[in-house]
Amino acid sequence: MESTPSPRSIKEIKAEISRLKKDKNALIMAHYYQRDEIQEIADFIGDSLALARQAAKTDADVIVMCGVHFMGETAKILCPDKTVLVPDLGAGCSLADSCDPEEFAEFVKSHPEHTVVSYVNTSAAVKAHTDIVVTSGNARKIIEKLPADEKIIFGPDHNLGEYINSVTGREMLLWNGACHVHDRFSIEKIMEMKREHPEAKVLVHPECRRPLQLIADKVGSTAALLEFAEQDDAPEYIVVTESGILFEMRRKCPGKIFLSAPAEDAECQCNQCEFMKMNTLEKVYEALRDGKPEITVDAEVAEKALRPIERMLEMSE
Ligand code: 13P
Ligand code: SF4
Repeated sequence: MESTPSPRSIKEIKAEISRLKKDKNALIMAHYYQRDEIQEIADFIGDSLALARQAAKTDADVIVMCGVHFMGETAKILCPDKTVLVPDLGAGCSLADSCDPEEFAEFVKSHPEHTVVSYVNTSAAVKAHTDIVVTSGNARKIIEKLPADEKIIFGPDHNLGEYINSVTGREMLLWNGACHVHDRFSIEKIMEMKREHPEAKVLVHPECRRPLQLIADKVGSTAALLEFAEQDDAPEYIVVTESGILFEMRRKCPGKIFLSAPAEDAECQCNQCEFMKMNTLEKVYEALRDGKPEITVDAEVAEKALRPIERMLEMSE
């Protein structure tokens, strides 16, 4: 009878990843929501904007995108000649899935006078129907650069759209999409936490619902929340976004306390994105070893999706 191979230790897997990375001239990028051990071995950690920027300028031959599918697609569109791997190709995104490309195309067609602005959390096919892509890190800046009377369609995240409308005074037409993690935080439980921790500041991602944005001390992308925590002097923070960000917050601000905000359903770990957590250290190793699973994007779609991504990079300089 064949014996089951004994599992390698984490230390061995990390050493193999490091060796393969050099051999293949690969860059490992990780979003802040990735598992701690993946953030630990990544060459670059960032929010969606920083990951896109880094992908656009790297001279690596292989990009291992430890994030979700649309992040891999964005990197592939920016670097068509590179091999882009996502350790688990099943790592999707409920927000991207809330925007069907054909329905979105119909919506765009029925509002011909509008500029189409899409959040980066979309499929390449939706980006192909878009004029400018934005992330939560640059949406405000980019919208403010458009003429005040410009008619705008914004999709798919309704909560982010409402936030941008509120801070810019625009009346963008919003698609009704949401992220299942950010849309489920409980304002009641967060208010309760705030009573128990009166000194804590509340950090909220703009994909959260409007009432949470209103009670926040800071609303911002993952990178913006991190930067706020680093520069601010409060001793404690209630963090209302996917809990993976706490790893980098605790690393960058060792003396401070970060509390992960609870979701409505106390039974589930709803402040974790199961798609982001599908990538594991073992899968990163296997992806590097085997050169798969690789992201591919239809050439015609990629060509159409490239321009709005490039416009984002130009406009957020
Ligand atoms: P940012 O990294 O742009 O803050 O986006 C959060 C997110 O939901 C990524 O999936
Ligand atoms: Fe998508 Fe939400 Fe997961 Fe981000 S946290 S990848 S928006 S499902």
